[in-house]
Amino acid sequence: MKSVFTAAVAAASLVSGAFAGRVKKRQAGNLPPVTVSGNAFMAGEDRFFIRGVAYQPGGAADAADPLLDTEALAADIEMFRELGINTIRIYTVDNAGDHEEAMRMLDEAGIYLALDASTPEYSLNRADLESLHWSYNTDYLQHLFATIDEFAGYSNLLLFFSGNEVINARNNTNAAPYIKAVTRDMKRYIGAQADRRIPVGYSAADVKENIYQQAVYFSCGEDDNARSDFFAFNDYAWCDPSSFTISGWDQKVELYSNYSLPIFLSEFGCITNRRDWNEIEALMSENMTAVYSGGLAYEFTIEPNGYGLVELGSNGAAEPNADFDRLADAFAANPAPTGMAGAKSEEEAVHLECPAESEDWPLDTNNLPEIPSSAEQLITDGAGEAPGLDGPGSQTSGAEQSATEPDLSNGVTTSEDTTNESGGSSNNNANSDSGSSGSGSGSGDSESAAGSVNAAFGTVVVAAVAAMALVN
Ligand SMILES: *[C@@H]1O[C@H](CO)[C@@H](O)[C@H](O)[C@H]1NC(C)=O
Ligand SMILES: *[C@@H]1O[C@H](CO)[C@@H](O)[C@H](O)[C@H]1NC(C)=O
Ligand SMILES: *[C@@H]1O[C@H](CO)[C@@H](O)[C@H](O)[C@H]1NC(C)=O
Ligand SMILES: *[C@@H]1O[C@H](CO)[C@@H](O)[C@H](O)[C@H]1NC(C)=O
Repeated sequence: MKSVFTAAVAAASLVSGAFAGRVKKRQAGNLPPVTVSGNAFMAGEDRFFIRGVAYQPGGAADAADPLLDTEALAADIEMFRELGINTIRIYTVDNAGDHEEAMRMLDEAGIYLALDASTPEYSLNRADLESLHWSYNTDYLQHLFATIDEFAGYSNLLLFFSGNEVINARNNTNAAPYIKAVTRDMKRYIGAQADRRIPVGYSAADVKENIYQQAVYFSCGEDDNARSDFFAFNDYAWCDPSSFTISGWDQKVELYSNYSLPIFLSEFGCITNRRDWNEIEALMSENMTAVYSGGLAYEFTIEPNGYGLVELGSNGAAEPNADFDRLADAFAANPAPTGMAGAKSEEEAVHLECPAESEDWPLDTNNLPEIPSSAEQLITDGAGEAPGLDGPGSQTSGAEQSATEPDLSNGVTTSEDTTNESGGSSNNNANSDSGSSGSGSGSGDSESAAGSVNAAFGTVVVAAVAAMALVN
Protein backbone atom coordinates (compact mmCIF):
# COMPACT_ATOMS: atom_id res chain seq x y z
CA MET A 1 0.00 0.00 0.00
CA LYS A 2 2.67 2.41 1.04
CA SER A 3 4.90 1.93 -2.01
CA VAL A 4 2.00 2.30 -4.39
CA PHE A 5 1.13 5.56 -2.73
CA THR A 6 4.66 6.92 -2.91
CA ALA A 7 4.94 6.20 -6.61
CA ALA A 8 1.67 7.96 -7.20
CA VAL A 9 2.86 10.95 -5.21
CA ALA A 10 5.78 11.36 -7.57
CA ALA A 11 3.43 11.21 -10.53
CA ALA A 12 1.02 13.57 -8.85
CA SER A 13 3.64 16.24 -8.26
CA LEU A 14 4.43 16.20 -11.98
CA VAL A 15 0.78 16.77 -12.72
CA SER A 16 0.37 19.56 -10.19
CA GLY A 17 3.48 21.24 -11.56
CA ALA A 18 1.75 21.57 -14.88
CA PHE A 19 -1.26 23.31 -13.31
CA ALA A 20 0.43 25.33 -10.60
CA GLY A 21 -1.97 27.02 -8.25
CA ARG A 22 -4.90 24.71 -8.91
CA VAL A 23 -6.18 21.76 -6.93
CA LYS A 24 -3.31 19.34 -6.47
CA LYS A 25 -3.96 15.90 -7.85
CA ARG A 26 -3.61 13.12 -5.30
CA GLN A 27 -3.55 9.38 -5.35
CA ALA A 28 -6.94 8.04 -4.29
CA GLY A 29 -6.80 6.73 -0.73
CA ASN A 30 -8.55 3.73 0.76
CA LEU A 31 -11.52 5.71 1.99
CA PRO A 32 -14.37 6.49 -0.38
CA PRO A 33 -15.10 10.22 -0.77
CA VAL A 34 -18.14 11.32 1.22
CA THR A 35 -21.04 12.86 -0.65
CA VAL A 36 -24.37 14.40 0.34
CA SER A 37 -27.68 12.84 -0.59
CA GLY A 38 -30.89 14.22 0.88
CA ASN A 39 -30.11 14.93 4.53
CA ALA A 40 -27.49 12.20 4.77
CA PHE A 41 -23.79 11.90 4.20
CA MET A 42 -22.92 8.90 2.08
CA ALA A 43 -19.63 6.98 1.84
CA GLY A 44 -20.17 5.05 -1.34
CA GLU A 45 -23.48 3.22 -0.95
CA ASP A 46 -23.52 3.48 2.84
CA ARG A 47 -24.76 6.25 5.06
CA PHE A 48 -21.88 7.97 6.85
CA PHE A 49 -22.04 9.07 10.49
CA ILE A 50 -19.40 11.41 11.88
CA ARG A 51 -17.86 9.83 14.96
CA GLY A 52 -14.97 12.06 15.74
CA VAL A 53 -12.98 14.43 17.89
CA ALA A 54 -11.76 18.00 17.55
CA TYR A 55 -7.99 17.96 17.12
CA GLN A 56 -5.88 21.08 17.57
CA PRO A 57 -2.92 20.36 19.87
CA GLY A 58 -1.73 23.69 21.24
CA GLY A 59 -5.22 25.16 21.12
CA ALA A 60 -6.59 27.95 19.02
CA ALA A 61 -4.59 30.85 20.47
CA ASP A 62 -1.22 29.77 19.12
CA ALA A 63 -2.51 27.70 16.27
CA ALA A 64 -0.05 25.39 14.58
CA ASP A 65 -0.84 22.87 11.85
CA PRO A 66 -1.00 19.48 13.60
CA LEU A 67 -0.65 17.66 10.28
CA LEU A 68 2.90 18.86 9.69
CA ASP A 69 4.42 17.13 12.74
CA THR A 70 3.92 13.62 11.41
CA GLU A 71 5.84 11.99 14.26
CA ALA A 72 3.43 13.39 16.86
CA LEU A 73 0.54 12.66 14.51
CA ALA A 74 1.55 9.01 14.22
CA ALA A 75 1.37 8.65 18.01
CA ASP A 76 -1.99 10.43 18.11
CA ILE A 77 -3.36 8.22 15.35
CA GLU A 78 -2.74 5.22 17.58
CA MET A 79 -5.04 6.87 20.10
CA PHE A 80 -7.58 7.73 17.40
CA ARG A 81 -7.70 3.99 16.76
CA GLU A 82 -8.25 3.30 20.45
CA LEU A 83 -11.08 5.82 20.50
CA GLY A 84 -12.64 4.11 17.50
CA ILE A 85 -13.26 7.37 15.65
CA ASN A 86 -13.60 7.94 11.91
CA THR A 87 -13.12 11.74 11.73
CA ILE A 88 -10.99 14.52 13.18
CA ARG A 89 -11.78 18.20 12.96
CA ILE A 90 -8.90 20.64 12.58
CA TYR A 91 -9.52 24.36 13.02
CA THR A 92 -6.29 25.74 11.58
CA VAL A 93 -3.88 24.35 9.01
CA ASP A 94 -0.97 25.88 7.14
CA ASN A 95 -2.11 25.87 3.53
CA ALA A 96 1.48 26.35 2.37
CA GLY A 97 2.54 23.13 4.11
CA ASP A 98 2.81 19.66 2.58
CA HIS A 99 0.04 17.37 3.81
CA GLU A 100 0.73 14.31 1.68
CA GLU A 101 2.20 12.17 4.44
CA ALA A 102 -0.33 13.13 7.12
CA MET A 103 -3.34 12.60 4.89
CA ARG A 104 -2.02 9.20 3.85
CA MET A 105 -1.49 8.21 7.49
CA LEU A 106 -5.01 9.29 8.39
CA ASP A 107 -6.43 7.47 5.39
CA GLU A 108 -4.68 4.26 6.35
CA ALA A 109 -6.17 4.60 9.85
CA GLY A 110 -9.67 5.02 8.40
CA ILE A 111 -9.92 8.67 9.37
CA TYR A 112 -11.50 11.56 7.49
CA LEU A 113 -10.63 15.22 7.96
CA ALA A 114 -13.27 17.91 8.60
CA LEU A 115 -11.35 21.12 7.96
CA ASP A 116 -11.97 24.74 8.89
CA ALA A 117 -10.76 26.69 5.89
CA SER A 118 -10.36 30.00 7.74
CA THR A 119 -7.57 30.80 10.19
CA PRO A 120 -7.34 33.47 12.87
CA GLU A 121 -5.57 35.76 10.38
CA TYR A 122 -7.69 34.90 7.35
CA SER A 123 -11.32 35.17 8.39
CA LEU A 124 -14.31 37.47 8.57
CA ASN A 125 -14.25 40.23 11.18
CA ARG A 126 -17.72 40.34 12.74
CA ALA A 127 -17.14 43.48 14.84
CA ASP A 128 -19.58 45.55 12.78
CA LEU A 129 -20.97 45.87 9.29
CA GLU A 130 -18.00 47.89 8.05
CA SER A 131 -15.45 45.36 9.30
CA LEU A 132 -17.48 42.51 7.85
CA HIS A 133 -17.54 44.16 4.46
CA TRP A 134 -13.88 45.12 4.72
CA SER A 135 -12.81 41.57 5.63
CA TYR A 136 -14.78 39.87 2.84
CA ASN A 137 -12.06 40.56 0.31
CA THR A 138 -9.89 38.93 -2.33
CA ASP A 139 -7.01 38.16 0.04
CA TYR A 140 -9.35 36.17 2.28
CA LEU A 141 -10.90 34.30 -0.63
CA GLN A 142 -7.46 33.64 -2.14
CA HIS A 143 -6.45 32.02 1.15
CA LEU A 144 -9.58 29.86 1.20
CA PHE A 145 -9.13 28.83 -2.42
CA ALA A 146 -5.47 27.94 -1.79
CA THR A 147 -6.60 25.71 1.09
CA ILE A 148 -9.01 23.99 -1.29
CA ASP A 149 -6.13 23.52 -3.77
CA GLU A 150 -4.07 21.82 -1.09
CA PHE A 151 -6.72 19.49 0.34
CA ALA A 152 -9.38 18.83 -2.28
CA GLY A 153 -7.41 16.04 -3.91
CA TYR A 154 -7.52 13.77 -0.86
CA SER A 155 -10.45 11.38 -0.84
CA ASN A 156 -10.45 11.41 2.99
CA LEU A 157 -11.04 15.17 3.05
CA LEU A 158 -14.58 14.92 4.40
CA LEU A 159 -15.75 18.53 4.25
CA PHE A 160 -14.76 22.15 4.58
CA PHE A 161 -16.20 24.51 7.18
CA SER A 162 -16.73 27.95 5.65
CA GLY A 163 -16.77 29.54 9.10
CA ASN A 164 -16.93 28.70 12.79
CA GLU A 165 -19.09 30.60 15.28
CA VAL A 166 -18.81 33.85 13.34
CA ILE A 167 -22.27 34.75 14.64
CA ASN A 168 -22.01 34.41 18.42
CA ALA A 169 -24.84 36.72 19.50
CA ARG A 170 -28.03 38.08 18.00
CA ASN A 171 -26.38 41.45 17.50
CA ASN A 172 -23.91 40.12 14.94
CA THR A 173 -26.43 38.24 12.85
CA ASN A 174 -25.49 40.66 10.07
CA ALA A 175 -22.50 38.38 9.45
CA ALA A 176 -24.88 35.81 7.95
CA PRO A 177 -24.87 37.11 4.35
CA TYR A 178 -21.07 37.26 4.40
CA ILE A 179 -20.79 33.71 5.71
CA LYS A 180 -23.22 32.58 3.03
CA ALA A 181 -21.23 34.42 0.37
CA VAL A 182 -18.03 32.70 1.52
CA THR A 183 -19.79 29.32 1.35
CA ARG A 184 -20.99 30.17 -2.16
CA ASP A 185 -17.53 31.26 -3.30
CA MET A 186 -15.87 28.13 -1.90
CA LYS A 187 -18.45 25.91 -3.58
CA ARG A 188 -17.95 27.71 -6.86
CA TYR A 189 -14.18 27.32 -6.60
CA ILE A 190 -14.58 23.60 -5.91
CA GLY A 191 -17.00 23.33 -8.83
CA ALA A 192 -14.51 25.01 -11.14
CA GLN A 193 -11.25 23.48 -9.92
CA ALA A 194 -11.84 20.19 -8.08
CA ASP A 195 -12.88 16.86 -9.53
CA ARG A 196 -15.53 16.11 -6.96
CA ARG A 197 -18.16 18.01 -5.05
CA ILE A 198 -16.69 18.39 -1.57
CA PRO A 199 -19.30 19.34 1.06
CA VAL A 200 -19.04 22.93 2.35
CA GLY A 201 -21.00 24.32 5.30
CA TYR A 202 -20.95 26.42 8.42
CA SER A 203 -20.31 25.50 12.05
CA ALA A 204 -22.64 27.59 14.21
CA ALA A 205 -22.48 28.70 17.81
CA ASP A 206 -25.55 27.72 19.80
CA VAL A 207 -27.08 31.23 19.67
CA LYS A 208 -30.36 30.60 21.43
CA GLU A 209 -32.31 33.43 19.80
CA ASN A 210 -31.74 32.41 16.20
CA ILE A 211 -29.72 29.27 15.60
CA TYR A 212 -32.70 27.69 13.88
CA GLN A 213 -33.08 30.70 11.57
CA GLN A 214 -29.37 30.44 10.82
CA ALA A 215 -29.78 26.79 9.86
CA VAL A 216 -32.68 27.58 7.57
CA TYR A 217 -30.99 30.67 6.10
CA PHE A 218 -27.88 28.73 5.09
CA SER A 219 -30.05 26.05 3.44
CA CYS A 220 -32.49 28.30 1.57
CA GLY A 221 -32.69 30.01 -1.80
CA GLU A 222 -32.53 29.03 -5.43
CA ASP A 223 -28.77 29.22 -5.87
CA ASP A 224 -27.28 25.75 -5.39
CA ASN A 225 -23.91 27.30 -4.63
CA ALA A 226 -25.15 29.70 -1.98
CA ARG A 227 -26.94 26.91 -0.12
CA SER A 228 -24.72 24.99 2.27
CA ASP A 229 -24.21 21.26 1.82
CA PHE A 230 -24.72 20.63 5.56
CA PHE A 231 -25.35 22.49 8.81
CA ALA A 232 -23.33 21.92 11.96
CA PHE A 233 -23.52 23.43 15.40
CA ASN A 234 -21.62 23.32 18.63
CA ASP A 235 -23.94 21.97 21.30
CA TYR A 236 -23.05 21.60 24.97
CA ALA A 237 -26.61 21.20 26.23
CA TRP A 238 -26.13 17.56 27.23
CA CYS A 239 -24.31 17.65 30.58
CA ASP A 240 -24.11 14.21 32.19
CA PRO A 241 -26.07 13.01 34.04
CA SER A 242 -28.64 13.82 31.37
CA SER A 243 -30.92 12.23 28.81
CA PHE A 244 -32.45 12.75 25.41
CA THR A 245 -35.29 14.72 27.01
CA ILE A 246 -33.43 16.47 29.87
CA SER A 247 -30.86 17.83 27.40
CA GLY A 248 -33.64 19.16 25.20
CA TRP A 249 -32.22 17.25 22.26
CA ASP A 250 -35.64 15.67 21.72
CA GLN A 251 -37.04 19.12 20.94
CA LYS A 252 -34.17 19.89 18.59
CA VAL A 253 -34.79 16.68 16.65
CA GLU A 254 -38.41 17.76 16.32
CA LEU A 255 -37.45 21.32 15.37
CA TYR A 256 -35.08 20.17 12.61
CA SER A 257 -37.27 17.30 11.44
CA ASN A 258 -38.04 19.05 8.12
CA TYR A 259 -34.53 20.31 7.53
CA SER A 260 -33.17 19.49 4.08
CA LEU A 261 -29.44 19.06 4.76
CA PRO A 262 -27.29 16.75 6.88
CA ILE A 263 -26.92 18.07 10.44
CA PHE A 264 -24.19 17.14 12.88
CA LEU A 265 -22.65 18.43 16.08
CA SER A 266 -19.39 20.16 15.19
CA GLU A 267 -18.55 20.15 18.92
CA PHE A 268 -20.13 18.43 21.92
CA GLY A 269 -19.04 17.30 25.38
CA CYS A 270 -20.14 19.46 28.33
CA ILE A 271 -17.64 19.34 31.22
CA THR A 272 -19.86 20.68 34.01
CA ASN A 273 -19.84 17.22 35.61
CA ARG A 274 -17.99 14.01 34.91
CA ARG A 275 -18.40 13.12 31.26
CA ASP A 276 -19.92 9.68 30.76
CA TRP A 277 -20.56 10.44 27.08
CA ASN A 278 -24.08 9.03 27.23
CA GLU A 279 -25.02 11.47 24.44
CA ILE A 280 -23.32 9.11 22.01
CA GLU A 281 -25.96 6.46 22.70
CA ALA A 282 -28.64 9.02 21.86
CA LEU A 283 -26.79 10.32 18.78
CA MET A 284 -26.51 6.82 17.35
CA SER A 285 -30.06 5.81 18.28
CA GLU A 286 -33.16 6.02 16.16
CA ASN A 287 -34.28 8.92 18.33
CA MET A 288 -31.82 11.06 16.39
CA THR A 289 -30.44 9.44 13.27
CA ALA A 290 -33.23 10.53 10.95
CA VAL A 291 -32.08 14.12 11.52
CA TYR A 292 -28.51 13.99 12.86
CA SER A 293 -25.38 12.48 11.32
CA GLY A 294 -23.22 12.16 14.43
CA GLY A 295 -20.76 14.63 15.84
CA LEU A 296 -17.33 15.61 17.08
CA ALA A 297 -16.33 15.36 20.74
CA TYR A 298 -14.44 18.39 21.99
CA GLU A 299 -11.46 17.91 22.15
CA PHE A 300 -8.40 15.70 21.87
CA THR A 301 -5.69 17.48 23.84
CA ILE A 302 -6.01 19.19 27.22
CA GLU A 303 -5.84 22.95 26.77
CA PRO A 304 -6.42 25.68 29.36
CA ASN A 305 -10.19 25.40 28.84
CA GLY A 306 -10.10 21.90 30.31
CA TYR A 307 -11.88 19.80 27.68
CA GLY A 308 -9.09 17.42 26.66
CA LEU A 309 -8.95 13.65 26.42
CA VAL A 310 -5.18 13.36 26.56
CA GLU A 311 -2.61 15.32 28.49
CA LEU A 312 0.80 16.19 27.18
CA GLY A 313 3.44 15.06 29.64
CA SER A 314 6.65 17.02 30.10
CA ASN A 315 8.43 14.58 27.79
CA GLY A 316 5.90 15.46 25.07
CA ALA A 317 4.22 12.06 25.23
CA ALA A 318 0.43 12.12 25.36
CA GLU A 319 -1.38 10.27 28.13
CA PRO A 320 -5.05 9.36 27.78
CA ASN A 321 -7.16 10.41 30.77
CA ALA A 322 -10.29 8.78 32.20
CA ASP A 323 -12.47 10.88 29.89
CA PHE A 324 -10.67 9.30 26.97
CA ASP A 325 -11.40 5.79 28.24
CA ARG A 326 -15.08 6.54 28.80
CA LEU A 327 -15.37 8.08 25.33
CA ALA A 328 -13.73 5.03 23.75
CA ASP A 329 -16.18 2.82 25.65
CA ALA A 330 -19.14 4.92 24.51
CA PHE A 331 -18.13 4.73 20.85
CA ALA A 332 -17.53 0.98 21.13
CA ALA A 333 -20.89 0.37 22.81
CA ASN A 334 -22.82 2.43 20.25
CA PRO A 335 -21.81 1.60 16.69
CA ALA A 336 -23.20 3.62 13.81
CA PRO A 337 -26.55 2.28 12.63
CA THR A 338 -26.70 0.44 9.34
CA GLY A 339 -28.92 1.32 6.41
CA MET A 340 -30.36 4.80 5.94
CA ALA A 341 -31.56 5.05 9.57
CA GLY A 342 -34.50 7.27 8.73
CA ALA A 343 -32.69 9.84 6.57
CA LYS A 344 -34.62 11.72 3.91
CA SER A 345 -33.99 10.93 0.28
CA GLU A 346 -33.02 13.55 -2.27
CA GLU A 347 -36.69 13.90 -3.26
CA GLU A 348 -37.92 14.16 0.33
CA ALA A 349 -35.33 16.72 1.39
CA VAL A 350 -37.14 19.88 0.30
CA HIS A 351 -35.35 23.12 1.08
CA LEU A 352 -37.22 25.35 3.52
CA GLU A 353 -38.20 28.94 2.77
CA CYS A 354 -35.71 31.59 3.88
CA PRO A 355 -36.52 32.89 7.39
CA ALA A 356 -38.68 35.98 7.69
CA GLU A 357 -37.25 39.13 9.21
CA SER A 358 -38.00 39.39 12.92
CA GLU A 359 -36.55 40.74 16.13
CA ASP A 360 -34.44 37.61 16.47
CA TRP A 361 -33.57 37.49 12.78
CA PRO A 362 -32.83 41.11 11.91
CA LEU A 363 -32.00 40.58 8.22
CA ASP A 364 -34.13 42.58 5.81
CA THR A 365 -32.76 41.05 2.60
CA ASN A 366 -31.74 37.70 1.21
CA ASN A 367 -29.25 39.40 -1.09
CA LEU A 368 -25.61 38.45 -0.75
CA PRO A 369 -22.54 40.55 -1.42
CA GLU A 370 -21.19 39.79 -4.86
CA ILE A 371 -17.73 38.34 -5.05
CA PRO A 372 -14.90 40.87 -5.60
CA SER A 373 -14.02 40.79 -9.29
CA SER A 374 -10.37 39.88 -8.68
CA ALA A 375 -11.54 36.87 -6.64
CA GLU A 376 -13.88 35.94 -9.49
CA GLN A 377 -10.78 35.76 -11.64
CA LEU A 378 -9.21 33.28 -9.18
CA ILE A 379 -12.14 30.92 -9.67
CA THR A 380 -11.25 30.75 -13.33
CA ASP A 381 -7.47 30.88 -13.05
CA GLY A 382 -6.79 29.06 -9.78
CA ALA A 383 -5.78 30.53 -6.44
CA GLY A 384 -2.03 30.72 -6.95
CA GLU A 385 0.45 30.64 -4.11
CA ALA A 386 -0.84 29.77 -0.63
CA PRO A 387 -0.14 32.47 1.96
CA GLY A 388 0.42 29.97 4.79
CA LEU A 389 0.19 30.66 8.51
CA ASP A 390 2.90 33.31 8.29
CA GLY A 391 0.99 35.30 5.69
CA PRO A 392 0.11 38.90 6.54
CA GLY A 393 -3.58 38.12 7.09
CA SER A 394 -6.60 39.45 5.26
CA GLN A 395 -8.92 41.21 7.69
CA THR A 396 -7.35 44.63 7.26
CA SER A 397 -5.28 43.99 4.17
CA GLY A 398 -7.18 46.49 2.07
CA ALA A 399 -7.55 43.96 -0.76
CA GLU A 400 -10.44 44.43 -3.17
CA GLN A 401 -13.82 44.20 -1.46
CA SER A 402 -17.22 43.43 -2.86
CA ALA A 403 -18.70 46.09 -5.14
CA THR A 404 -21.97 45.55 -3.28
CA GLU A 405 -22.87 48.09 -0.61
CA PRO A 406 -22.77 46.82 3.01
CA ASP A 407 -26.57 47.17 3.21
CA LEU A 408 -26.70 44.62 0.36
CA SER A 409 -29.42 46.57 -1.42
CA ASN A 410 -27.42 46.22 -4.63
CA GLY A 411 -26.28 42.71 -3.79
CA VAL A 412 -26.72 39.44 -5.61
CA THR A 413 -30.10 37.91 -5.09
CA THR A 414 -30.17 34.21 -4.42
CA SER A 415 -33.79 33.73 -5.41
CA GLU A 416 -33.56 34.73 -9.04
CA ASP A 417 -32.70 32.36 -11.85
CA THR A 418 -29.75 33.97 -13.53
CA THR A 419 -28.56 30.86 -15.30
CA ASN A 420 -26.78 31.50 -18.54
CA GLU A 421 -25.00 28.48 -19.91
CA SER A 422 -22.97 30.58 -22.34
CA GLY A 423 -20.86 31.54 -19.36
CA GLY A 424 -19.45 28.03 -19.47
CA SER A 425 -17.23 28.53 -22.47
CA SER A 426 -14.48 30.30 -20.60
CA ASN A 427 -14.75 28.14 -17.51
CA ASN A 428 -12.30 25.27 -17.36
CA ASN A 429 -14.56 22.96 -15.36
CA ALA A 430 -14.27 19.42 -16.61
CA ASN A 431 -17.99 18.84 -16.20
CA SER A 432 -19.25 18.06 -19.67
CA ASP A 433 -22.89 18.41 -18.74
CA SER A 434 -22.96 22.18 -18.52
CA GLY A 435 -25.58 22.41 -21.22
CA SER A 436 -28.46 21.45 -18.98
CA SER A 437 -30.83 24.17 -17.98
CA GLY A 438 -30.41 24.31 -14.20
CA SER A 439 -33.68 26.12 -13.99
CA GLY A 440 -33.35 26.96 -10.35
CA SER A 441 -35.73 24.45 -8.84
CA GLY A 442 -35.33 24.65 -5.10
CA SER A 443 -35.30 20.96 -4.40
CA GLY A 444 -35.32 17.53 -5.92
CA ASP A 445 -32.46 17.20 -8.38
CA SER A 446 -30.80 20.40 -7.28
CA GLU A 447 -27.80 18.55 -5.93
CA SER A 448 -26.77 17.40 -9.38
CA ALA A 449 -23.38 18.48 -10.57
CA ALA A 450 -24.86 20.06 -13.66
CA GLY A 451 -27.20 22.20 -11.60
CA SER A 452 -24.37 23.40 -9.42
CA VAL A 453 -22.18 24.33 -12.36
CA ASN A 454 -24.96 26.28 -13.97
CA ALA A 455 -25.78 28.11 -10.78
CA ALA A 456 -22.13 29.08 -10.61
CA PHE A 457 -22.38 30.65 -14.04
CA GLY A 458 -25.59 32.29 -12.96
CA THR A 459 -23.98 34.30 -10.20
CA VAL A 460 -21.21 35.16 -12.60
CA VAL A 461 -23.36 36.69 -15.27
CA VAL A 462 -25.52 38.67 -12.90
CA ALA A 463 -22.56 40.82 -11.95
CA ALA A 464 -21.44 42.84 -14.93
CA VAL A 465 -17.89 43.28 -13.68
CA ALA A 466 -17.50 39.59 -13.04
CA ALA A 467 -18.90 38.75 -16.45
CA MET A 468 -16.30 40.96 -18.06
CA ALA A 469 -13.61 39.18 -16.11
CA LEU A 470 -14.83 35.92 -17.58
CA VAL A 471 -14.70 37.24 -21.12
CA ASN A 472 -11.10 38.35 -20.79
C1 LIG B 1 -23.95 41.84 21.71
O1 LIG B 1 -24.66 40.99 22.60
C2 LIG B 1 -23.83 40.38 23.59
C3 LIG B 1 -24.67 39.47 24.46
O2 LIG B 1 -25.59 38.75 23.72
C4 LIG B 1 -23.16 41.46 24.44
O3 LIG B 1 -22.27 40.85 25.34
C5 LIG B 1 -22.38 42.42 23.53
O4 LIG B 1 -21.88 43.48 24.31
C6 LIG B 1 -23.28 42.98 22.45
N1 LIG B 1 -22.48 43.79 21.54
C7 LIG B 1 -22.87 44.97 21.12
C8 LIG B 1 -21.94 45.69 20.19
O5 LIG B 1 -23.94 45.47 21.44
C1 LIG C 1 -42.71 19.86 9.14
O1 LIG C 1 -43.53 19.81 7.98
C2 LIG C 1 -44.84 19.36 8.25
C3 LIG C 1 -45.54 19.21 6.92
O2 LIG C 1 -45.43 20.37 6.17
C4 LIG C 1 -45.53 20.34 9.18
O3 LIG C 1 -46.83 19.90 9.49
C5 LIG C 1 -44.72 20.46 10.47
O4 LIG C 1 -45.26 21.46 11.31
C6 LIG C 1 -43.28 20.81 10.18
N1 LIG C 1 -42.50 20.73 11.40
C7 LIG C 1 -41.69 21.71 11.79
C8 LIG C 1 -40.99 21.50 13.09
O5 LIG C 1 -41.52 22.72 11.16
C1 LIG D 1 -35.25 7.72 23.04
O1 LIG D 1 -36.37 8.50 23.36
C2 LIG D 1 -37.21 7.92 24.36
C3 LIG D 1 -38.44 8.77 24.49
O2 LIG D 1 -38.08 10.12 24.72
C4 LIG D 1 -36.44 7.77 25.65
O3 LIG D 1 -37.25 7.17 26.64
C5 LIG D 1 -35.23 6.92 25.41
O4 LIG D 1 -34.42 6.87 26.57
C6 LIG D 1 -34.40 7.51 24.27
N1 LIG D 1 -33.29 6.62 23.94
C7 LIG D 1 -32.03 7.06 23.88
C8 LIG D 1 -31.00 6.06 23.53
O5 LIG D 1 -31.72 8.22 24.11
C1 LIG E 1 -26.84 34.88 -22.01
O1 LIG E 1 -25.69 34.97 -22.83
C2 LIG E 1 -25.99 35.36 -24.16
C3 LIG E 1 -24.69 35.27 -24.95
O2 LIG E 1 -23.66 35.92 -24.31
C4 LIG E 1 -26.58 36.75 -24.15
O3 LIG E 1 -26.91 37.15 -25.49
C5 LIG E 1 -27.84 36.75 -23.32
O4 LIG E 1 -28.35 38.06 -23.21
C6 LIG E 1 -27.53 36.22 -21.92
N1 LIG E 1 -28.76 36.08 -21.16
C7 LIG E 1 -28.87 36.53 -19.93
C8 LIG E 1 -30.17 36.29 -19.26
O5 LIG E 1 -27.95 37.10 -19.35
